[in-house]
Amino acid sequence: MDTPLGFPRTRLRRLRYHPGIRDMVRETRLSPRNFIQPLFVRPGEGIRHPIGSMPGQDQISVDQLPAEILEARQLGLGGVILFGIPPHKDEVGSDSYDDQGIVQQALRTAKQAAADVVLVADVCFCEYTSHGHCGVVNTRTGRPDVDNDATLELLGKQAVSFARAGADVIAPSGMMDGMVGAIRQSLDAAGFLHIPILSYAAKYASAFYGPFREAAESTPQFGDRRAYQMDPAASADQALREVELDLAEGADMIMVKPALAYLDILRAISDRFAGVPLAAYNVSGEYSMVKAAAKNGWIDERAVALELLTALRRAGATSILTYWAKDAARWLA
Ligand code: PBG
Repeated sequence: MDTPLGFPRTRLRRLRYHPGIRDMVRETRLSPRNFIQPLFVRPGEGIRHPIGSMPGQDQISVDQLPAEILEARQLGLGGVILFGIPPHKDEVGSDSYDDQGIVQQALRTAKQAAADVVLVADVCFCEYTSHGHCGVVNTRTGRPDVDNDATLELLGKQAVSFARAGADVIAPSGMMDGMVGAIRQSLDAAGFLHIPILSYAAKYASAFYGPFREAAESTPQFGDRRAYQMDPAASADQALREVELDLAEGADMIMVKPALAYLDILRAISDRFAGVPLAAYNVSGEYSMVKAAAKNGWIDERAVALELLTALRRAGATSILTYWAKDAARWLA
């Protein structure tokens, strides 16, 4: 009896013996160009303040940025994404749309250091508001809530100010309905027709952001973000609706965040919207738990990190925002 697909004629191990053949047939590859390094910028001079919950990551002052940008270029990274810790916070997060704001200073300095390194600007309010929420808070309804439509106008102002300072990509992360359309309209009206939007389209209310909130000093002072970020238990169909709406509003690229517990979402989006650049945000908690385990000698950081990054590419991510960007580029060299 002939079974053409069966053992012993078919032996899948044949392609696994020779390292060169394993490499030859490998479909998923990692390149430094896939990685985007997040950077945290704070006021002051000569500051490199280690972030306790994220070993290997620092809050830096603007004067430290040129060295980071030149390193990103030398390593061949896809780009960097900037997060700012402003000198003062207020109810409406006004530092974020001030042309002299912390991120604007950082963008100008980074652009001057190396114009060819792609600068992504995260557009949100949680780092800039005294209450730590991602928009304007009102209490009209009796319980404090982020006012979606009042926030849209300010998001437009923030995006235009970042573009003016040198941002190459605008990345709204606040999960406000209509944010992509509002930002597109503001950018176009200000003449920034060529600046693309990378939308955090499917961003979940996740416990994996814990360490970032220390890094960006953006912990909400009351409540949580579940009234605007997605429910982790929502079906993949809801993520597809978010993506569909953002694309209709003019998003050029799409992001899923967090990454590792949402591989199914990445896969669903990359299947449905093939051809749309898809980013995955390998968030702070995903990084810090590997760091902690590695510090205890329980796992091999390098091997685990590369395996995780490979999984994200395999699930369909074209770009990965990751705190391992620089390390991974070195490991691959
Ligand atoms: C919000 C924002 C957050 C992250 C990136 N942008 C945090 C949040 O929603 O609370 C988290 C990134 C990470 O955990 O690494 N502007």
